[in-house]
Amino acid sequence: MGIGEAFAREFACKGHNLVLVARSGDKLQALAEELRHASGVEVEVCIEDLSDVDSSGRIYEFCGRKHACVDLLVNCAGLSYAGDFSDIPFEKFEEIIMVNVIATAKLTRLFLPSMVARKQGSIINIASLGGLQGVPGLGLYSATKSFIMTLTEALHEELKGTGVKIVAVCPGFINTSFFKNAGHDAANIRLPISGTDIVVKAALKGLKKNRIRIFPTLIDNILAFSQRLVSRGIVIRLAGFFAAVKG
Ligand SMILES: NC(=O)c1ccc[n+]([C@@H]2O[C@H](COP(=O)([O-])OP(=O)(O)OC[C@H]3O[C@@H](n4cnc5c(N)ncnc54)[C@H](OP(=O)(O)O)[C@@H]3O)[C@@H](O)[C@H]2O)c1
Repeated sequence: MGIGEAFAREFACKGHNLVLVARSGDKLQALAEELRHASGVEVEVCIEDLSDVDSSGRIYEFCGRKHACVDLLVNCAGLSYAGDFSDIPFEKFEEIIMVNVIATAKLTRLFLPSMVARKQGSIINIASLGGLQGVPGLGLYSATKSFIMTLTEALHEELKGTGVKIVAVCPGFINTSFFKNAGHDAANIRLPISGTDIVVKAALKGLKKNRIRIFPTLIDNILAFSQRLVSRGIVIRLAGFFAAVKG
């Protein structure tokens, strides 16, 4: 769904074969069928719950069984919880860390070596503007996205000269079911909410230019840059104000 689906549509349009991963088998099958017919590409469906610690390994094995040589990995699945840190149900707490942190790092760790061996490949890690600072009301989520950004930055440098590229995409607010799933009332958000296509377009442009971090919109860029001009306390309070988790 959401941003991941937009990536799948774009890559299918460009003639790339795909492996789609999520929990909702029916939605994945419907999308796969549509993309096969519309674009003539091969689409494999891998139904996995990334909050299961062994799921990344199973996805890697699935690709091996299907002889799918992964040239481009998009770590996009992610979730949030809107509210005070001390109120996060423990199940949700673990799910957020498992999907946003462990699965992203583990899938990267699994697919990277063969890309390096082939001297080509790309990884797009979907972080967030929220990962630039702690966001009050989205504390755990913003911390997981900071993890993705710092991991990606380190790998970007490690991978220099290998032929493999890695980028962290840092969208602001994007129109998907993400907020509803997190219990975050999108009507309260005090910044424009963009479409998913903007993220995909910016990610592919940034990947081509071998950028480290990509901020999809002008406002995202201004907010990221302006962090250098004000105190950390103000940055954090403003992030909370824009996200407006409590209205
Ligand atoms: N929307 C925004 O404003 C925004 C802003 C910045 C960054 N992001 C990031 O963008 C990424 C995509 O978010 P989105 O806006 O596209 O949200 P979305 O519409 O809710 O889509 C999330 C996707 O992740 C999958 N997913 C969630 N939990 C999973 C699990 N346990 N196992 C496997 N797949 C799982 C979902 O599929 P199933 O439910 O079928 O598993 C769904 O396809 C996330 O990493 C998010 O943090 C979003």
